[in-house]
Amino acid sequence: MHRIAVIPGDGVGPEVVAEGIKVLEAAGEALNIGFEWRRYPFGAEHYLSTGETLSEESLKELSACDAIYLGAVGDPRVKPGVLEQGILLKLRFHFDQYINLRPVRLYPGIETPLKGKKPEHVNFYVVRENTEDFYVGAGARVRESGRVELEVVRRLYRLRFGVEVEKEGSEEVAFQLGVVSREGAERVIRYAFELAEREGMSRVTGVDKANVLTHAYSLWREVFDSVAGEYEGIETEHTYVDAVTMYFLTKPEHFQVVVTPNMFGDILTDLGAQIQGGIGLAPSGNINPEGVSMFEPVHGSAPDIAGKGLANPVAQILAGALMLRELGEPRAAELVERAVAETLREGVRTPDIGGRASTSQVGDAVAEKLRELAEY
Ligand code: NAD
Ligand code: IPM
Ligand code: MN
Repeated sequence: MHRIAVIPGDGVGPEVVAEGIKVLEAAGEALNIGFEWRRYPFGAEHYLSTGETLSEESLKELSACDAIYLGAVGDPRVKPGVLEQGILLKLRFHFDQYINLRPVRLYPGIETPLKGKKPEHVNFYVVRENTEDFYVGAGARVRESGRVELEVVRRLYRLRFGVEVEKEGSEEVAFQLGVVSREGAERVIRYAFELAEREGMSRVTGVDKANVLTHAYSLWREVFDSVAGEYEGIETEHTYVDAVTMYFLTKPEHFQVVVTPNMFGDILTDLGAQIQGGIGLAPSGNINPEGVSMFEPVHGSAPDIAGKGLANPVAQILAGALMLRELGEPRAAELVERAVAETLREGVRTPDIGGRASTSQVGDAVAEKLRELAEY
């Protein structure tokens, strides 16, 4: 019996989560796995009516769950960042989900915008650091927050540029700090190498911008090299984030495991989503191997298509498969992935990937296919 906290969230979140649960239930029935779903209302409606993003009590309850299954948060009625930081990032940080695992995999029959590339060319993992970098939230807008930060900014400017930011209020300055710690880098880089070994992959690519952000990413690089030294059979390379963006498009088949700092990983995985056929197909796992992990699609709440039955539920369903694997149910995970692959191959798809089916029709078809596959 797995106890799963469910946060459908905003926009298309509730629509795709319903299909994810439908498919997970079907997998559970087929393989005799029980789920207890505990629903939480966090998101824009809850925030607008109560002023609360997440409550301390709920965090305690969530910590007693085996995993969290999240749709998406973010709503045009709420200032950008309030729900994203107050719910999504809060959960990633609170549960120290230091790995963000984002497989990039092209399913048979799905069209990639990359000319001539087939499923065998697009099949790799992005391992995104998930608790540091520019996501730590350290920074300020100086006019808003006054003297202490202004003094910091003055010093930074004097040191770096020899410029005096003198008159208070004459110049509005904002700054945001990126943090890389040795421990933080090491644990995620090690995970990437372990993943490569587990999956029989032979190359780990490290991403950074050590030529410009020399302080933070020289440490990242140093840690990468020292961890790499422990994995003799695995080929390694450093790439700058700008160049790796090109290579994702020109030679995706080169990549096996890509390990990246947080913000570059965010950007690279929207690109990764496109090369695997679209953002509606890309799942994501926020993983703490020793704690409570959280599974969600790479995409957001897609307010432009919410409530219309247009959302592709596949990313959410595949996030469910990642969750099953982390819960120690690899057979069920594989069954879900095979059911998705078959359903897509047969052409049951939402409009974003050239089909005519609705969100729930795709969910129904995947669940049905799963039951069929389970009978063999
Ligand atoms: P988005 O991913 O929500 O949407 C980008 C585009 O992709 C839109 O055109 C949308 O219609 C399309 N799209 C997304 N998911 C789809 C699906 N399942 N099927 C078909 N098409 C889909 O990104 P955005 O527009 O930049 O952000 C919208 C909101 O979501 C913002 O508030 C943002 O902060 C938030 N967001 C949340 C998460 C999360 O909760 N994990 C992730 C990213 C963005
Ligand atoms: C993602 C999203 C989030 C991120 C936002 C909504 C905080 O874009 O999961 O990729 O930047 O990590
Ligand atoms: Mn993103």
